Amino acid sequence: MSGRLTNQFHMKFTIDFLKKIRVFSIIYVLVFLILQNGCARKGFVSESVPPHLYDFKRELPALTHKRNPVFLVYGDHRPSWSVAEGFLDKRNWSKIRLLLFPFYLPGLLFNTTFGGTAYLRRLPDVGSKMRKRVLNQIYQEVSNGGIDFIAHTGDIVENGTYHTQWEDFLIEAGVEKPVMKLVPYYPAPGNHERPNEAVYGKYNYDTVFPNSRFYTKKFKDVVLIFLDSGILFDQNRDFPSFTVQDSLYRKYLVSEPDSKKASWLEEQLTSAQEKQKIILIHHPLFSYGKHSRNWDKTWGLNLIQKRKEITQLFQKHKVQLIIAGHEHYYEHNVLKYVSEGKNYNMHVLVTGGGGTPIRPLVSLSKVNKWLDEDMQEGYEVEMVNRAEEYHYCIISVTENGINIEVIRVDDGEIENRIILDEFLIR
Ligand SMILES: [Fe+2]
Repeated sequence: MSGRLTNQFHMKFTIDFLKKIRVFSIIYVLVFLILQNGCARKGFVSESVPPHLYDFKRELPALTHKRNPVFLVYGDHRPSWSVAEGFLDKRNWSKIRLLLFPFYLPGLLFNTTFGGTAYLRRLPDVGSKMRKRVLNQIYQEVSNGGIDFIAHTGDIVENGTYHTQWEDFLIEAGVEKPVMKLVPYYPAPGNHERPNEAVYGKYNYDTVFPNSRFYTKKFKDVVLIFLDSGILFDQNRDFPSFTVQDSLYRKYLVSEPDSKKASWLEEQLTSAQEKQKIILIHHPLFSYGKHSRNWDKTWGLNLIQKRKEITQLFQKHKVQLIIAGHEHYYEHNVLKYVSEGKNYNMHVLVTGGGGTPIRPLVSLSKVNKWLDEDMQEGYEVEMVNRAEEYHYCIISVTENGINIEVIRVDDGEIENRIILDEFLIR
């Protein structure tokens, strides 16, 4: 009898204890999320960053535009990478920093609540080692000469509404290794910059990169068109409504079928006399990593239809190369199509290995499933190459074509310049 009472007591104690733990865990997670996403770090970049840090070299000498360029492109490089995703990636589990995650938490909470110190702010930055390695190698490459400018495929910071993250980015790129003082730096905004968030995101992006949302750079035989894909994908609901977002899509990317007024992009493509046409945009038209099915999401109106319209526009104007980021690794895909009886290739280069922790490759069976789905939508895409590596690319344009060299950055003791991939578009 007394044994049964003892068991009942133990059971009641255990249930009560679990209930308490459950409540505590929920409160703990809620407080963490509220503080992590709170407004403590939101702010205007100009309030905390001295102007000389973002007053970097912006334009090339006019004479450079009369010849063909050589430029370096990289993407997805975010200081202040949140510990959360790094913690969930099992390849990081052996890292002492992540094993010590619970001990970081007080520091992290202090940081998110009160702004923290520069030291604490960098503690959860799990990608810092490789990001600095990539930046060092880029700096070396540009210092050696021969690179006219740097292009970025977006996701420059983790959250563009936080001035502290712009500060981190500018300090790394502008002072420790003055990459942005050497040659002009042309970005295509990514979703993490939040360039369409009405208060902080818009202000911070436009302060650091004035006039850098939709713009064109022309050279002897090539035109480069930079686009803000935020007007397609509004994951954070930064626009007041999808209707506003949609009207910007019609204004900048593809006009209504019966419209008499061409969009900004249609005007740029129609007036381009250059033989080669390159588009820089954060979200790839075709990619087969974690973000492969972004076009199926409800982050904008009729995204499937919009992908079709943009692809047709690029095909009409025989765009040879789209350079994108967003996926955290390297991918080279080719869209094959026929126009007026002739075969064409449109290359999609996905360069997202600029320092944000690399994501594992998706299984080939899944890739093949997605390739089949795209084929059913009318896109004949061939995946030519992909690699789970940190890297950047060097693009050399000549009268006859575009040469792409992909340089791997490894984590060995000695910095090696290893060619990961190379191909020529004619
Ligand atoms: Fe992205």
